[in-house]
Amino acid sequence: MVDMSKQASNKRSTEPQSDNLAIHYHTPVMLGEAIAALNIRADGIYVDCTFGGGGHSRAILQHLNENGRLYVFDQDAAAKQNLPDDERIIFIPQNFRYVQRFLRLQKISKVDGILADLGVSSHQFDEAARGFSTRFDADLDMRMDQREATTAATVLNNFTEQQLHKMFEQYGEVTNSKTLAKTIVQQRAVAPIRTINEFKQAVKAAVKGNPQKYFAQVFQALRIQVNDELGALKELLAQTTTLLKPGGRIAIITFHSLEDRIAKTFFRNGSFSEVEADEVYGTKPESPFLIISKKPIVPGETELKQNPRSRSAKLRVAELK
Ligand SMILES: C[S@@+](CC[C@H](N)C(=O)[O-])C[C@H]1O[C@@H](n2cnc3c(N)ncnc32)[C@H](O)[C@@H]1O
Repeated sequence: MVDMSKQASNKRSTEPQSDNLAIHYHTPVMLGEAIAALNIRADGIYVDCTFGGGGHSRAILQHLNENGRLYVFDQDAAAKQNLPDDERIIFIPQNFRYVQRFLRLQKISKVDGILADLGVSSHQFDEAARGFSTRFDADLDMRMDQREATTAATVLNNFTEQQLHKMFEQYGEVTNSKTLAKTIVQQRAVAPIRTINEFKQAVKAAVKGNPQKYFAQVFQALRIQVNDELGALKELLAQTTTLLKPGGRIAIITFHSLEDRIAKTFFRNGSFSEVEADEVYGTKPESPFLIISKKPIVPGETELKQNPRSRSAKLRVAELK
């Protein structure tokens, strides 16, 4: 359901209830670069698909005048606590894969700019009970959206060996994904795997190299699967060609190569696969986008030092022709 509560407010402040709260929640990555990329029109309509701690959203609001509007999505209800008291922002607690559907409910069919800063927030990662981090013991959850039924435990206890193998290989680049999948299937036949510690114990024999790095890759794969992160990104991108106004910008911050490749290919071709050149003329159909960032933009040294979690971030920017 669309949360209209903030629209009713007359106050105009980009400060959240407590600024410390939002900073603690998540430090925005490539903030200046992302805002510059959007080339914001003061009276424009913008969408922040991944509100989180609201760092990017507050910066967008600072560039809008009283006619500008910012629609923000987050599928995690916890993000709502970071909403600034500002009548120009509208919070939509939904998956951004339904962006057009929920904007239509707000009578919005075209927008001037879209931002997506993918993945999980520091808050989700640091909150033990959410089950995203290898540092804690908790239920194997990893859902960004608690209304969804599938948790990491569901995946581990129900996927076939082949599905587990492919998931760890493709989403985590786990070197011995086949052995890991086999170990999981053997161990879950003895007892279901419900918690992080039970999982670590169950697959102990399969761990290769540095356990911290190994489990980071394994957990990344599980998280991508549980939240269908690549599916949601593709659905979002597919809607951008009809949602953006001509000249409207899209900025995507990715954190691993699979997401980056999807954004790059889509901006280049307007589709998710490489387009073959015409056999006779050697021409390719024109992309609906003008690519603004020929190479992905990455965090500068100062940001990398201040926020090590920004290290794998890449920003790609395109403009609808
Ligand atoms: C990296 S954080 C964004 C941080 C934000 N830019 C800031 O400045 O604080 C990603 C956020 O997007 C949300 N999210 C991720 N995938 C989503 C999706 N498919 N639909 C809606 N929200 C999503 C997560 O719940 C998380 O709060």
